[in-house]
Formats: sequence, structure tokens, C-alpha cells
Amino acid sequence: MSAGVEETDIASPLNSAAATEGTGNATKATRPTAPTSRTTGANVRAGGPTRTPRPANGAAGATRPPASRAPGPTRTPGPVRGMPRPAPSGTQPVGYKSGRRSVLRRYCVPITTTILVLASIVVIAILVKVVLDNYYYFCLKSFKFIPLDKWCDGKSDCSGDEDESRCVHRVEVDSRSSVVRITEQASLLQLYMISTQQWSWICSDSWDSNKAKAVCTQLGFSGDPVFSHVPTTEVDTRSASIFSTVQQLSNRELQVVPVSGGRCPSGTLVSLRCTVCGASHKRERIIGGSDSTIENWPWQVSLQFMGQHVCGGSILAPHWILTAAHCFKGQEQVDRWRIQVGMAKLTFLFGSQVDKIFLHNQYVYDQKPYDIALMKLKNDLSYSGSVQPICLPGFNSNLPPSATLWVTGWGNTQEGGSLATILQQVSIRLISYETCNSQYFNQIQSTMLCAGREAGGADTCQGDSGGPLVSYGNSSRWEQIGIVSWGDGCGRPGKVGVYTKVSSYLDWIYGVMKREL
Ligand code: ARG
Repeated sequence: MSAGVEETDIASPLNSAAATEGTGNATKATRPTAPTSRTTGANVRAGGPTRTPRPANGAAGATRPPASRAPGPTRTPGPVRGMPRPAPSGTQPVGYKSGRRSVLRRYCVPITTTILVLASIVVIAILVKVVLDNYYYFCLKSFKFIPLDKWCDGKSDCSGDEDESRCVHRVEVDSRSSVVRITEQASLLQLYMISTQQWSWICSDSWDSNKAKAVCTQLGFSGDPVFSHVPTTEVDTRSASIFSTVQQLSNRELQVVPVSGGRCPSGTLVSLRCTVCGASHKRERIIGGSDSTIENWPWQVSLQFMGQHVCGGSILAPHWILTAAHCFKGQEQVDRWRIQVGMAKLTFLFGSQVDKIFLHNQYVYDQKPYDIALMKLKNDLSYSGSVQPICLPGFNSNLPPSATLWVTGWGNTQEGGSLATILQQVSIRLISYETCNSQYFNQIQSTMLCAGREAGGADTCQGDSGGPLVSYGNSSRWEQIGIVSWGDGCGRPGKVGVYTKVSSYLDWIYGVMKREL
């Protein structure tokens, strides 16, 4: 609309006058002889020059009139003061419209400028934070920055040990303090009699849910346990020497009382599960792997350090994740870790926060034994079809030679390759200690186990570490036999994968969980 352009063009100098004289509208209304065109406006003003288009090079001054010209803008001025302003020909009155425009201009420009300035400040602040986060740690109490490599380096650099307070810790558990164990077969309960230094079977007589809870507390589980009664006749009872009942003492302590005659009056033993675990839709079954769904392996999690997938892990309880200790080498800052659960596609947003990380006290970085760690989450996970705990094996778990096992993870799909985006699964077999030790020059200890294919082609790889090696147990539940730990290359013939043997570390796992109850 050409009228609009005309108005806009002359409004600027008027606006600045209005700012000193009153409201824009009032000022405009009292100006006389509003020009209907630039030439008219120029004619009204004595001595005012005819506005000529600005030269493209901006040398407007060259066409300006001499200095003797009456003071006033070189641009075509607005209407003369004191005269009503006629409406521009062919348009309706514009006082209201132009007033609105000038109000817009008065408020919009400063608001937009403010928003832009604030946005720039936010962007700069984010950049500064990113740079600082990548190079420095800020000690809140002593209000100073320290280089990032001093954070969690074992030496205190901030006052109050602040830089060393949220790092991994090494935990020692005295296995002599453990008094509860669960058998592999039928999850039968055994308690230790300190007085006679014997393990005892527990008869179902006088057993109840309070006692079940008290026993599970000893193993670090706080949820509702499930128990059942198994006839003694169905059990190979050689792994414990006596039979007892349990008496609950008032101070929540349990007392083991041997039964006279050496047999349970009820003829049944207590089978106890401190958590419902190992349930998957899968009934059988990374290099050489295939895409899977998380519902098949709902205990599988991704451990992420500063938004990068580093290792796998498995859910043991609503706030406990089992993994490998070597995952934390150079990455000991607890608050930089997140756990992703319930998804097969690797994603990096909204992971669960970590409260504490525990490494086995005897683990040494770059060495192979004791490669086990537990992560305690800040908030409990809520279980669903895609988030479920895996069962721990019994203390006497013993797989048949060449047992079929499954391993899962997002690790490299080729030696030296890149991570998988979809969770991979692969079926491998248990490999004997003899074979494995001949492949690895006798480095395989009884606390490790080997699994893979001697011909190669199916194995775990970098990025799978910490993940679960599972078997479908005889109790029709999946249980975790191993933790992905190390190997020479990935999937090479004659070099199988080596795993931390979970059943060797049950006392450590239960001991850490119990400590934190
Ligand atoms: N250490 C590796 C990791 O950090 C896992 C290696 C497993 N290697 C093997 N050949 N199975 O992810």
C-alpha cells in the first residue's frame, strides 16, 4: 500500500519529536498541513529542499542545500504544527493506525533488543559452561576452579575434599560375614551357624514372610520376597550338613535352631527369591550377532559417560546395576554417568542419574581379575515389560560343559569398528578352562569364565564390557553367569571372550547392596 509507505517514511523524525512533546498521536493531530506527498510537504516548508533519492554510495551530503538553510531536518518534514492534519487522499483517516505503529515501534524495538541481548548472554553463558565443564571442575566451597584431571584423582584439591567426594569407591566385603546363601537348584535357602561353623538347610516349619524379609535384608534386597516349599526328597541335600528352623528374635535377628532327628518335620525346605527376576519373552536364545528387542533382554542397560555409550550393564534391583570395574578407568566422576534402560535403540537423552559407584577393592585398572562393579541409582527404576531385573546365580552354580549362553550389547560390531545402534544378541558356548588357558597363556583364573566359539565370528567387543552373559537356568528363569570383561581382539579364531564369573562374587555383590540398605 503506497500510502503506508509514505507514512512510514516520514514518521521517523516526527516520532522523535513526539517523544519530547507528548504522545505521538496528540502531536500528529496538531500538526498542520500534513503533506499528501513529499513534494507537497517540501513546498510547505520555506526553504526546504525537494527530497531527492539518496545516491547509492551514500554521499547524500553532496546534494544538500547550503548552510544558510533554516534549521530542520534535510528529510521532508512532517505537517506544520497547529494545523489539523488532513487525511491522505484516497484513504480513510490514519491517526489510529499510525498511532498503533508508533506504539509498536516504541515497545517492540526495545523488547526485541532486550530479547536479543538476553539470548546472546544465554548463548555465551552456555559456551562458557561447556568450555569450563570440559577443562575445569568448580569447587563450590572454596570457590575456585581446578583442572579436570584433578577431579577424582585420589588427592584432595578443594576444601572439604569436595573434588574427591563423588567418585567411585572401592569396597571390601568380608566373605566370612555372609551368613545367607541360595542354591542354584530350586533357589533353596541355607543359613550359616556361627557356633558350629556349618551351613544348614532351612525347614519350612514356622517359616513366614517376616522371616523371608529378614533374610533378604541380609542379601541387600528390600522388596517383597517370594518363597515356596520344596520336598526334601526332591533335593540333593549334600551341600549343607544339617537341617534347622528359624526363630525370629525380638530385635529382628534370626536364630538358627537345628531340628532334632536331623529331618524337617514338614518334610519341606524353604525356597526363597528376594526378587522376581529373569523373566523375558524369550525362551532360548555382537560380532556375528543380530538385532534384538529390549523385551527379550529387559535387564540390559547402557552406561553412558558425558553422553557417550561406554559399557553395558544389567539391572539387579530397582536401584542396582551390575557392570565391569574397568569401565570406570579415567571416568570416576559419579555425576557424569547416566544409565539408559528400557530401550533397544541407543539413545542419550534422559538417562537415570547415579548416586554411587562401587568397584571391587582388589581391582586394579589394566589388570584382569576382580573386574566387577556396582552402580547405585539415585531413583528406583520402575519395572515394565522392557525394564526387569536379571537373576543372580546360586552359590553352587555349575554349568554343563559347552552350555549355551547368550550375550547382549551395543558394542562394536567388528574389531576396530563402530557401535551398534540397535541392541545386538549372540548365542555362544561355555568354553572349558583348559581350552581357554591354552588360548590365553594360563591367565584364566577360577573367578573368570570363557565363552565364545573356537572358530571365532561370534563374540563380544569394545563397548559390550560390563554387559550380561546369561543362561536360561533350570528354574526357567534367565540368570547372569558372567560380566563381559576382556579378550584378544574380537571374534578372532582361537581367541574367545573372557568374562567375570558372577558366582565367585556373590558375597561381594550382596555385601555391597546390604551396606547401602
Ligand atoms: N574390554 C572390552 C570393553 O571394554 C570388552 C572386550 C571383550 N572382548 C572380547 N573379545 N570378548 O568393552
